[in-house]
Amino acid sequence: MERRLPLLPGLAWSSFCLLLLLRLLCRGAAAPHISGAAVAAPLLCNVSLDSAPEERWKPVLRHFDPEFLRAAFYQLIDEVVPKWVHAIIRPLAEELESFAPQPFAGEIRGLCQALGLNVGDGLLINLAYESTAFCTSIIAQDNNGNIYHGRNMDYAFGDILRKTTIDVEFIKNGQVKFRGTTFLGYVGLWTGQSPHKFTVSGDERDSGAWWENAIAAFINRNSPVSWLVRTVLSDAEDFEAASLMLSKTPIIADVYYIIGGTSPREGAVITRRRSGPVDIWPLDPLTGGWYRVETNYDHWTTPPPFDDRRTHAMKAMNATGQKNINLESLYKVLSVQPVLNKLTVYTTVMSAAAPSKYTTC
Ligand SMILES: *[C@@H]1O[C@H](CO)[C@@H](O)[C@H](O)[C@H]1NC(C)=O
Ligand SMILES: *[C@@H]1O[C@H](CO)[C@@H](O)[C@H](O)[C@H]1NC(C)=O
Repeated sequence: MERRLPLLPGLAWSSFCLLLLLRLLCRGAAAPHISGAAVAAPLLCNVSLDSAPEERWKPVLRHFDPEFLRAAFYQLIDEVVPKWVHAIIRPLAEELESFAPQPFAGEIRGLCQALGLNVGDGLLINLAYESTAFCTSIIAQDNNGNIYHGRNMDYAFGDILRKTTIDVEFIKNGQVKFRGTTFLGYVGLWTGQSPHKFTVSGDERDSGAWWENAIAAFINRNSPVSWLVRTVLSDAEDFEAASLMLSKTPIIADVYYIIGGTSPREGAVITRRRSGPVDIWPLDPLTGGWYRVETNYDHWTTPPPFDDRRTHAMKAMNATGQKNINLESLYKVLSVQPVLNKLTVYTTVMSAAAPSKYTTC
C-alpha cells in the first residue's frame, strides 16, 4: 500500500490490485485514517444536490473530526496565504461572498458554519490557486477506440490534503449525476466524471501569485477554475458541449483542462488563459497521437530539465504501447517516478464509458 515509496518494477501491478482491494474494504469503513500516516484510498461519499447547498456537506463532515479539520484549515490558510496578504484580503474576502454564485456560496457558508470557521477565510481557501501545485494528466485511446484518462494531483502540503481527500458522488433524483475527487471543504473539482459522457481534469498553468489578479477577475464574475469544472460536470450534455464550455468560459486564472469522452478521438488538452483558449491539442491517433501528456508547461515548449515529468511519462506510455493501454497500465504509468513523486496527493484513473471503474488511490 505504500505506493509513495519508490516502486520496484513488477510490484506496480500487484500493488494496484492491493490498493483496489483496500479501497473496497475502505468503502465500508466509518472513518478515513485521519491520524495515521498511511495513505489509504479516500472516503467515498454521497453529496445530495437535492438538499440545500448549506446542508448538503453535513453528512460528509460527520466522518471527520472537526478539531482536526479546523486545525488543517488554519494550517492551509497559513501556508497558502502569506500573513500580510491575509491581513489585507481577509476583510475583502468576507464581502466577496456576495460575488460568489450558487451553489458554491451556500456550500462554503454551510461548511464554515458547521465547523465554526470564518466564511471569508473559507472562500479564500476555495479561491486560492496554489502556485506550487504540480500535476500530470494523461489522456489516451487504445487500439479499439476506448478512451482512458488519468491524473496525479501533486501539492506542496500533501500531508494535510491526503487526510482530507474524498471521492464524492453528487446525487440528483437518486442517480449519480457526476463524480469527483476533492479535498473536504474545497467545493470545486479538479478531477471528475460525468457518467457515459466525459471526464475532466485540471492542471495548474503557472501565472504567478494567485491572488494578484484572481480577486479582481472574481469580482468581474469570472469563475474559479475548479468551479467551472464542477459546473461543466453538472450541466454539459456531452463531450462537445463540455469542451466548448471549458474552452470559452471566463475563469480567474490560467489553467490546462484535460478532457476525455466516450468515442474514438474524443480527447484533448485545452490550454487556457483567463479569457479564452490559447490552444486546443486533440488526440490524433491516425498520425501517432494516441495519447497526450500534460504536466504544467505548454505542450509546444520544452519543460525545464529540473522538472521533466513529461518525458518520463511519455517514455512510460511509449513502452506500454497503444494496444496495452487501459486503466491499470495507465495507473502504472502514473506511478513511475518522478511522475509520481513525494508531492503526489492522489492518483485517479477513469473512463467515462465505464463510470464504475473510476478509481482514486
Ligand atoms: C450513494 O447514492 C447512490 C444512489 O442513491 C447509492 O446507490 C449509493 O449506495 C450511495 N453510496 C453511499 C456511499 O452512500
Ligand atoms: C515516444 O514515441 C513517439 C512516437 O514514436 C516519439 O516521437 C517520442 O519521441 C517518444 N518519446 C519518448 C520520451 O520516448
